[in-house]
Amino acid sequence: MMFNQLRNNVILITGGAGFIGSHVVRRFVNQYPNKHIYNLDSLTYAGNLENLKDIETAPNYTFVKGDITDVAFIEDLFKSYRFTGVVHLAAESHVDRSITDPVSFVMTNVVGTVNLLNAFKSIWKDDFKGKRFYHVSTDEVYGSLGESGLFTETTSYDPNSPYSASKASSDHFVRAYGETYGMPYVISNCSNNYGPNHFPEKLIPLFINNIINEKPLPVYGDGNYTRDWLYVIDHAVAIDLAFHTGKNGETYNIGGFNEWKNIDLVQLLCSLMDKKLNRPTGKSAHLITYVKDRPGHDLRYAIDASKINQELGWKPSVTFEEGLEKTIDWYLGNQEWLDQVTSGDYQEYYIKQYT
Ligand code: NAD
Ligand code: DAU
Repeated sequence: MMFNQLRNNVILITGGAGFIGSHVVRRFVNQYPNKHIYNLDSLTYAGNLENLKDIETAPNYTFVKGDITDVAFIEDLFKSYRFTGVVHLAAESHVDRSITDPVSFVMTNVVGTVNLLNAFKSIWKDDFKGKRFYHVSTDEVYGSLGESGLFTETTSYDPNSPYSASKASSDHFVRAYGETYGMPYVISNCSNNYGPNHFPEKLIPLFINNIINEKPLPVYGDGNYTRDWLYVIDHAVAIDLAFHTGKNGETYNIGGFNEWKNIDLVQLLCSLMDKKLNRPTGKSAHLITYVKDRPGHDLRYAIDASKINQELGWKPSVTFEEGLEKTIDWYLGNQEWLDQVTSGDYQEYYIKQYT
Protein backbone atom coordinates (compact mmCIF):
# COMPACT_ATOMS: atom_id res chain seq x y z
CA MET A 1 0.00 0.00 0.00
CA MET A 2 1.32 3.42 -0.87
CA PHE A 3 1.91 5.81 2.01
CA ASN A 4 -0.43 8.20 0.20
CA GLN A 5 -3.35 5.89 0.98
CA LEU A 6 -2.63 5.77 4.67
CA ARG A 7 -3.85 8.16 7.34
CA ASN A 8 -1.50 11.01 6.56
CA ASN A 9 -3.99 13.80 6.23
CA VAL A 10 -2.65 16.36 8.71
CA ILE A 11 0.72 17.50 7.43
CA LEU A 12 3.21 19.84 9.02
CA ILE A 13 5.67 21.55 6.69
CA THR A 14 8.43 23.43 8.50
CA GLY A 15 10.25 26.36 6.90
CA GLY A 16 7.39 26.82 4.45
CA ALA A 17 7.91 30.57 4.14
CA GLY A 18 11.44 30.10 2.79
CA PHE A 19 12.66 29.48 -0.73
CA ILE A 20 12.14 25.72 -1.25
CA GLY A 21 9.55 25.42 1.54
CA SER A 22 7.18 27.87 -0.15
CA HIS A 23 7.21 25.80 -3.35
CA VAL A 24 6.62 22.62 -1.34
CA VAL A 25 3.72 24.20 0.59
CA ARG A 26 2.11 25.44 -2.65
CA ARG A 27 2.51 22.00 -4.25
CA PHE A 28 0.94 20.17 -1.29
CA VAL A 29 -1.91 22.68 -0.81
CA ASN A 30 -2.88 22.56 -4.51
CA GLN A 31 -2.28 18.84 -5.00
CA TYR A 32 -4.05 17.54 -1.89
CA PRO A 33 -7.29 19.44 -1.15
CA ASN A 34 -8.31 16.69 1.31
CA LYS A 35 -5.23 17.09 3.44
CA HIS A 36 -4.66 19.98 5.78
CA ILE A 37 -1.27 21.64 5.41
CA TYR A 38 0.20 23.49 8.40
CA ASN A 39 3.17 25.71 7.62
CA LEU A 40 5.39 26.33 10.66
CA ASP A 41 7.96 29.07 10.23
CA SER A 42 9.61 31.55 12.59
CA LEU A 43 10.06 34.07 9.73
CA THR A 44 13.78 34.69 10.04
CA TYR A 45 15.40 37.02 7.48
CA ALA A 46 14.91 34.17 4.95
CA GLY A 47 11.20 33.60 5.63
CA ASN A 48 8.68 35.69 3.74
CA LEU A 49 4.90 35.23 3.66
CA GLU A 50 4.79 37.18 0.39
CA ASN A 51 6.08 33.94 -1.15
CA LEU A 52 2.69 32.32 -0.41
CA LYS A 53 0.23 35.13 -1.20
CA ASP A 54 -1.53 33.06 -3.87
CA ILE A 55 -2.52 30.23 -1.51
CA GLU A 56 -2.81 32.00 1.86
CA THR A 57 -6.64 31.81 1.92
CA ALA A 58 -6.88 28.18 0.74
CA PRO A 59 -9.26 26.24 3.05
CA ASN A 60 -6.69 23.46 3.58
CA TYR A 61 -3.85 25.79 4.60
CA THR A 62 -2.85 27.30 7.96
CA PHE A 63 0.25 29.32 8.78
CA VAL A 64 1.69 29.00 12.29
CA LYS A 65 4.44 31.37 13.40
CA GLY A 66 6.84 29.58 15.73
CA ASP A 67 10.41 28.50 16.35
CA ILE A 68 11.49 24.85 16.13
CA THR A 69 14.01 25.46 18.92
CA ASP A 70 11.19 26.31 21.38
CA VAL A 71 10.59 22.90 23.03
CA ALA A 72 7.41 23.75 24.95
CA PHE A 73 5.82 25.41 21.93
CA ILE A 74 6.67 22.48 19.63
CA GLU A 75 5.33 19.90 22.12
CA ASP A 76 2.05 21.81 22.47
CA LEU A 77 1.72 22.23 18.72
CA PHE A 78 2.13 18.50 18.05
CA LYS A 79 -0.29 17.60 20.87
CA SER A 80 -2.89 20.03 19.52
CA TYR A 81 -2.77 19.08 15.83
CA ARG A 82 -1.49 15.48 15.95
CA PHE A 83 0.38 15.74 12.65
CA THR A 84 0.41 12.44 10.79
CA GLY A 85 3.22 13.56 8.50
CA VAL A 86 6.05 16.06 8.84
CA VAL A 87 8.05 17.53 5.95
CA HIS A 88 10.96 19.26 7.61
CA LEU A 89 12.72 22.06 5.73
CA ALA A 90 13.22 24.76 8.38
CA ALA A 91 16.92 25.49 8.66
CA GLU A 92 19.65 28.04 8.54
CA SER A 93 20.70 27.43 4.95
CA HIS A 94 23.54 29.74 3.91
CA VAL A 95 27.12 28.42 4.07
CA ASP A 96 28.70 31.89 4.39
CA ARG A 97 26.51 32.74 7.39
CA SER A 98 27.49 29.42 9.00
CA ILE A 99 31.13 30.46 8.81
CA THR A 100 30.50 33.64 10.81
CA ASP A 101 27.83 32.25 13.17
CA PRO A 102 28.04 28.45 13.53
CA VAL A 103 26.07 28.24 16.79
CA SER A 104 22.79 29.39 15.30
CA PHE A 105 23.18 26.57 12.76
CA VAL A 106 23.60 24.03 15.56
CA MET A 107 20.55 25.42 17.35
CA THR A 108 18.14 25.43 14.39
CA ASN A 109 19.47 22.59 12.27
CA VAL A 110 20.43 20.12 14.98
CA VAL A 111 18.51 21.02 18.17
CA GLY A 112 15.44 22.15 16.18
CA THR A 113 15.35 18.87 14.26
CA VAL A 114 15.68 16.80 17.45
CA ASN A 115 12.84 18.80 19.03
CA LEU A 116 10.58 17.92 16.08
CA LEU A 117 11.61 14.25 16.24
CA ASN A 118 10.86 14.14 19.97
CA ALA A 119 7.48 15.79 19.56
CA PHE A 120 6.56 13.40 16.72
CA LYS A 121 7.69 10.43 18.81
CA SER A 122 5.78 11.58 21.86
CA ILE A 123 2.42 11.69 20.04
CA TRP A 124 2.75 8.46 18.01
CA LYS A 125 5.06 6.26 20.10
CA ASP A 126 2.50 3.45 20.37
CA ASP A 127 1.38 3.59 16.78
CA PHE A 128 3.65 4.87 14.04
CA LYS A 129 1.58 3.05 11.40
CA GLY A 130 0.86 5.31 8.42
CA LYS A 131 2.97 8.15 9.86
CA ARG A 132 6.07 9.61 8.32
CA PHE A 133 8.84 12.08 9.19
CA TYR A 134 10.40 13.43 5.98
CA HIS A 135 13.72 15.22 6.38
CA VAL A 136 14.96 17.56 3.64
CA SER A 137 18.73 17.52 3.50
CA THR A 138 21.55 18.50 1.20
CA ASP A 139 24.29 16.95 -0.95
CA GLU A 140 26.81 19.03 1.05
CA VAL A 141 26.82 16.36 3.79
CA TYR A 142 28.92 14.19 1.43
CA GLY A 143 31.73 16.77 1.36
CA SER A 144 33.59 17.60 -1.83
CA LEU A 145 34.16 15.59 -5.02
CA GLY A 146 37.33 15.79 -7.10
CA GLU A 147 37.17 16.28 -10.86
CA SER A 148 35.18 13.05 -11.37
CA GLY A 149 32.62 10.81 -9.64
CA LEU A 150 29.11 11.39 -8.28
CA PHE A 151 27.52 11.34 -4.81
CA THR A 152 25.35 8.24 -4.32
CA GLU A 153 23.14 7.36 -1.35
CA THR A 154 25.99 5.25 0.08
CA THR A 155 28.73 7.88 -0.19
CA SER A 156 30.23 8.45 3.29
CA TYR A 157 29.39 11.65 5.08
CA ASP A 158 32.30 14.11 5.09
CA PRO A 159 30.94 17.62 5.78
CA ASN A 160 33.33 20.57 5.55
CA SER A 161 31.37 23.67 6.59
CA PRO A 162 29.50 24.37 9.85
CA TYR A 163 26.32 24.37 7.70
CA SER A 164 26.97 20.94 6.19
CA ALA A 165 28.15 19.58 9.56
CA SER A 166 24.86 20.69 11.14
CA LYS A 167 22.81 19.14 8.32
CA ALA A 168 24.84 15.90 8.54
CA SER A 169 24.20 15.80 12.26
CA SER A 170 20.46 16.29 11.77
CA ASP A 171 20.40 13.49 9.16
CA HIS A 172 22.09 11.18 11.68
CA PHE A 173 19.50 12.03 14.34
CA VAL A 174 16.63 11.27 11.96
CA ARG A 175 18.17 7.92 11.08
CA ALA A 176 18.87 7.19 14.76
CA TYR A 177 15.21 7.84 15.68
CA GLY A 178 14.28 5.32 12.98
CA GLU A 179 16.66 2.67 14.31
CA THR A 180 16.08 3.30 18.02
CA TYR A 181 12.39 4.14 18.25
CA GLY A 182 11.07 2.64 15.01
CA MET A 183 10.09 6.06 13.69
CA PRO A 184 9.19 5.85 9.98
CA TYR A 185 11.34 8.34 8.10
CA VAL A 186 12.60 9.27 4.65
CA ILE A 187 15.59 11.54 3.98
CA SER A 188 16.39 13.26 0.71
CA ASN A 189 19.71 14.93 -0.13
CA CYS A 190 19.43 17.47 -2.89
CA SER A 191 21.85 19.52 -4.97
CA ASN A 192 21.78 23.32 -5.45
CA ASN A 193 18.32 24.70 -6.15
CA TYR A 194 17.50 27.85 -8.11
CA GLY A 195 14.27 29.55 -9.13
CA PRO A 196 11.70 32.13 -7.99
CA ASN A 197 11.72 33.38 -4.36
CA HIS A 198 15.40 32.50 -3.79
CA PHE A 199 16.88 34.86 -1.21
CA PRO A 200 19.54 37.06 -2.87
CA GLU A 201 22.40 35.95 -0.65
CA LYS A 202 22.89 32.79 -2.78
CA LEU A 203 24.86 32.88 -6.05
CA ILE A 204 22.13 33.06 -8.72
CA PRO A 205 19.67 35.54 -7.15
CA LEU A 206 22.51 37.66 -5.72
CA PHE A 207 24.06 37.99 -9.16
CA ILE A 208 20.70 38.67 -10.86
CA ASN A 209 20.07 41.48 -8.37
CA ASN A 210 23.58 42.88 -8.81
CA ILE A 211 23.32 42.76 -12.61
CA ILE A 212 20.00 44.66 -12.47
CA ASN A 213 21.68 47.28 -10.25
CA GLU A 214 24.98 47.21 -12.19
CA LYS A 215 26.94 46.23 -9.06
CA PRO A 216 30.09 44.04 -9.02
CA LEU A 217 29.57 40.25 -9.25
CA PRO A 218 31.80 38.78 -6.50
CA VAL A 219 33.12 35.42 -7.78
CA TYR A 220 34.88 33.52 -4.97
CA GLY A 221 38.44 32.31 -5.68
CA ASP A 222 39.13 31.39 -9.30
CA GLY A 223 35.46 30.58 -10.06
CA ASN A 224 36.32 27.00 -10.98
CA TYR A 225 34.02 25.47 -8.35
CA THR A 226 31.28 23.21 -9.65
CA ARG A 227 27.67 22.84 -8.53
CA ASP A 228 24.78 20.69 -9.83
CA TRP A 229 21.74 22.94 -10.34
CA LEU A 230 18.08 21.93 -10.06
CA TYR A 231 14.97 24.04 -10.69
CA VAL A 232 13.19 24.44 -7.35
CA ILE A 233 9.77 23.27 -8.59
CA ASP A 234 11.36 20.00 -9.73
CA HIS A 235 12.69 19.60 -6.19
CA ALA A 236 9.19 20.22 -4.76
CA VAL A 237 7.79 17.52 -7.06
CA ALA A 238 10.53 15.09 -5.96
CA ILE A 239 9.77 15.77 -2.27
CA ASP A 240 6.04 15.20 -2.87
CA LEU A 241 6.81 11.91 -4.63
CA ALA A 242 9.33 10.63 -2.10
CA PHE A 243 7.14 11.70 0.85
CA HIS A 244 4.13 9.83 -0.52
CA THR A 245 5.72 6.85 -2.28
CA GLY A 246 9.28 6.52 -0.93
CA LYS A 247 10.23 3.57 1.27
CA ASN A 248 10.60 3.98 5.02
CA GLY A 249 14.18 4.25 6.21
CA GLU A 250 15.48 5.15 2.76
CA THR A 251 17.55 8.04 1.48
CA TYR A 252 16.97 9.49 -1.98
CA ASN A 253 19.51 11.70 -3.73
CA ILE A 254 17.93 14.43 -5.85
CA GLY A 255 19.90 16.37 -8.47
CA GLY A 256 19.68 18.16 -11.75
CA PHE A 257 22.09 16.07 -13.89
CA ASN A 258 23.35 19.58 -14.55
CA GLU A 259 26.90 20.49 -13.50
CA TRP A 260 28.24 23.99 -14.03
CA LYS A 261 31.50 25.67 -13.09
CA ASN A 262 30.57 28.89 -11.28
CA ILE A 263 32.35 31.10 -13.77
CA ASP A 264 30.62 29.46 -16.78
CA LEU A 265 27.25 29.81 -15.06
CA VAL A 266 27.94 33.48 -14.30
CA GLN A 267 28.94 34.12 -17.95
CA LEU A 268 25.68 32.48 -19.13
CA LEU A 269 23.66 34.52 -16.63
CA CYS A 270 25.36 37.73 -17.79
CA SER A 271 24.60 37.08 -21.44
CA LEU A 272 20.94 36.15 -20.75
CA MET A 273 20.52 39.26 -18.59
CA ASP A 274 22.08 41.52 -21.25
CA LYS A 275 19.44 40.28 -23.70
CA LYS A 276 16.55 40.64 -21.22
CA LEU A 277 17.64 44.14 -20.21
CA ASN A 278 18.43 45.23 -23.77
CA ARG A 279 22.00 45.98 -22.79
CA PRO A 280 24.96 45.65 -25.18
CA THR A 281 26.47 42.13 -25.30
CA GLY A 282 29.25 41.80 -22.71
CA LYS A 283 28.04 44.67 -20.52
CA SER A 284 27.15 42.53 -17.47
CA ALA A 285 30.27 40.34 -17.78
CA HIS A 286 32.32 43.47 -17.09
CA LEU A 287 30.87 43.41 -13.57
CA ILE A 288 32.59 40.07 -12.78
CA THR A 289 35.06 40.63 -9.93
CA TYR A 290 37.20 37.87 -8.42
CA VAL A 291 37.19 38.14 -4.63
CA LYS A 292 38.67 36.32 -1.62
CA ASP A 293 37.68 32.65 -1.56
CA ARG A 294 35.17 31.11 0.85
CA PRO A 295 37.10 29.26 3.62
CA GLY A 296 36.78 25.48 3.27
CA HIS A 297 35.16 25.94 -0.16
CA ASP A 298 34.00 22.57 -1.55
CA LEU A 299 35.39 22.06 -5.07
CA ARG A 300 32.59 20.10 -6.66
CA TYR A 301 29.15 18.65 -5.94
CA ALA A 302 27.37 16.29 -8.35
CA ILE A 303 24.48 13.97 -7.60
CA ASP A 304 23.72 10.54 -8.97
CA ALA A 305 19.90 10.70 -8.94
CA SER A 306 19.37 7.31 -10.56
CA LYS A 307 17.74 5.76 -7.46
CA ILE A 308 14.82 8.21 -7.30
CA ASN A 309 14.62 8.08 -11.09
CA GLN A 310 14.45 4.29 -11.30
CA GLU A 311 12.47 3.54 -8.12
CA LEU A 312 10.03 6.47 -8.05
CA GLY A 313 10.08 7.64 -11.68
CA TRP A 314 11.26 11.20 -10.95
CA LYS A 315 13.33 13.32 -13.30
CA PRO A 316 13.79 17.07 -13.78
CA SER A 317 11.16 18.62 -16.07
CA VAL A 318 13.03 21.68 -17.32
CA THR A 319 16.45 22.21 -18.86
CA PHE A 320 18.83 24.62 -17.16
CA GLU A 321 18.41 27.18 -19.94
CA GLU A 322 14.59 27.04 -19.55
CA GLY A 323 14.77 27.18 -15.76
CA LEU A 324 17.24 30.05 -15.75
CA GLU A 325 15.11 32.04 -18.17
CA LYS A 326 11.97 31.46 -16.04
CA THR A 327 13.99 32.54 -12.98
CA ILE A 328 15.30 35.74 -14.58
CA ASP A 329 11.80 36.59 -15.81
CA TRP A 330 10.44 36.07 -12.30
CA TYR A 331 12.99 38.45 -10.74
CA LEU A 332 12.48 41.08 -13.43
CA GLY A 333 8.72 40.86 -12.88
CA ASN A 334 8.99 40.96 -9.09
CA GLN A 335 11.23 43.94 -8.48
CA GLU A 336 9.12 44.91 -5.44
CA TRP A 337 9.83 41.54 -3.78
CA LEU A 338 13.53 42.02 -4.49
CA ASP A 339 13.52 45.59 -3.14
CA GLN A 340 11.69 44.49 0.01
CA VAL A 341 14.11 41.66 0.87
CA THR A 342 17.22 43.68 0.07
CA SER A 343 16.36 46.60 2.34
CA GLY A 344 17.21 46.84 6.05
CA ASP A 345 19.34 44.02 7.50
CA TYR A 346 20.37 42.78 4.06
CA GLN A 347 22.45 45.91 3.47
CA GLU A 348 24.34 45.33 6.71
CA TYR A 349 24.93 41.66 5.81
CA TYR A 350 26.14 42.63 2.34
CA ILE A 351 28.69 45.13 3.60
CA LYS A 352 30.01 42.66 6.21
CA GLN A 353 30.29 39.81 3.69
CA TYR A 354 31.65 41.65 0.66
CA THR A 355 33.75 44.58 1.82
P1 NAD B 1 15.74 29.24 3.31
O1 NAD B 1 16.85 29.80 4.13
O2 NAD B 1 15.28 29.96 2.10
O3 NAD B 1 14.45 29.02 4.23
C1 NAD B 1 14.52 28.49 5.52
C2 NAD B 1 13.19 28.75 6.19
O4 NAD B 1 13.27 28.20 7.52
C3 NAD B 1 12.85 30.24 6.35
O5 NAD B 1 11.51 30.47 5.99
C4 NAD B 1 13.08 30.51 7.82
O6 NAD B 1 12.25 31.54 8.34
C5 NAD B 1 12.75 29.15 8.43
N1 NAD B 1 13.43 28.96 9.73
C6 NAD B 1 14.75 29.15 10.00
N2 NAD B 1 14.99 28.91 11.29
C7 NAD B 1 13.81 28.53 11.85
C8 NAD B 1 13.41 28.13 13.15
N3 NAD B 1 14.30 28.09 14.16
N4 NAD B 1 12.12 27.80 13.38
C9 NAD B 1 11.21 27.84 12.36
N5 NAD B 1 11.53 28.22 11.11
C10 NAD B 1 12.81 28.56 10.86
O7 NAD B 1 16.20 27.76 2.96
P2 NAD B 1 16.00 26.90 1.63
O8 NAD B 1 17.10 27.21 0.70
O9 NAD B 1 14.60 27.00 1.21
O10 NAD B 1 16.29 25.43 2.21
C11 NAD B 1 15.24 24.69 2.81
C12 NAD B 1 15.80 23.34 3.23
O11 NAD B 1 16.33 22.66 2.12
C13 NAD B 1 16.94 23.45 4.25
O12 NAD B 1 16.78 22.42 5.19
C14 NAD B 1 18.18 23.25 3.42
O13 NAD B 1 19.22 22.68 4.18
C15 NAD B 1 17.69 22.29 2.35
N6 NAD B 1 18.35 22.36 1.05
C16 NAD B 1 18.51 23.55 0.41
C17 NAD B 1 19.08 23.57 -0.85
C18 NAD B 1 19.25 24.85 -1.64
O14 NAD B 1 19.89 24.84 -2.70
N7 NAD B 1 18.70 25.97 -1.18
C19 NAD B 1 19.53 22.38 -1.44
C20 NAD B 1 19.37 21.18 -0.73
C21 NAD B 1 18.78 21.19 0.51
O1 DAU C 1 24.32 21.89 -2.57
C1 DAU C 1 23.17 22.24 -1.87
C2 DAU C 1 23.41 23.53 -1.11
O2 DAU C 1 23.46 24.56 -2.09
C3 DAU C 1 22.35 23.83 -0.08
O3 DAU C 1 22.38 22.83 0.92
C4 DAU C 1 22.58 25.20 0.56
O4 DAU C 1 21.52 25.50 1.45
C5 DAU C 1 22.62 26.22 -0.55
O5 DAU C 1 22.89 27.50 -0.01
C6 DAU C 1 23.67 25.86 -1.59
O6 DAU C 1 25.01 25.97 -1.06
P1 DAU C 1 26.22 26.60 -1.91
O7 DAU C 1 27.23 27.08 -0.97
O8 DAU C 1 26.64 25.68 -3.00
O9 DAU C 1 25.41 27.83 -2.60
P2 DAU C 1 25.81 29.35 -2.85
O10 DAU C 1 24.75 29.92 -3.74
O11 DAU C 1 26.11 30.07 -1.59
O12 DAU C 1 27.16 29.23 -3.68
C7 DAU C 1 27.19 28.55 -4.93
C8 DAU C 1 28.62 28.64 -5.44
O13 DAU C 1 28.90 29.99 -5.79
C9 DAU C 1 29.67 28.24 -4.42
O14 DAU C 1 30.74 27.59 -5.07
C10 DAU C 1 30.15 29.57 -3.85
C11 DAU C 1 30.01 30.51 -5.04
N1 DAU C 1 29.70 31.93 -4.70
C12 DAU C 1 28.64 32.16 -3.88
C13 DAU C 1 28.32 33.46 -3.52
C14 DAU C 1 27.18 33.75 -2.60
C15 DAU C 1 30.46 32.95 -5.23
O15 DAU C 1 31.41 32.72 -6.02
N2 DAU C 1 30.14 34.24 -4.87
C16 DAU C 1 29.12 34.54 -4.03
O16 DAU C 1 28.90 35.73 -3.73
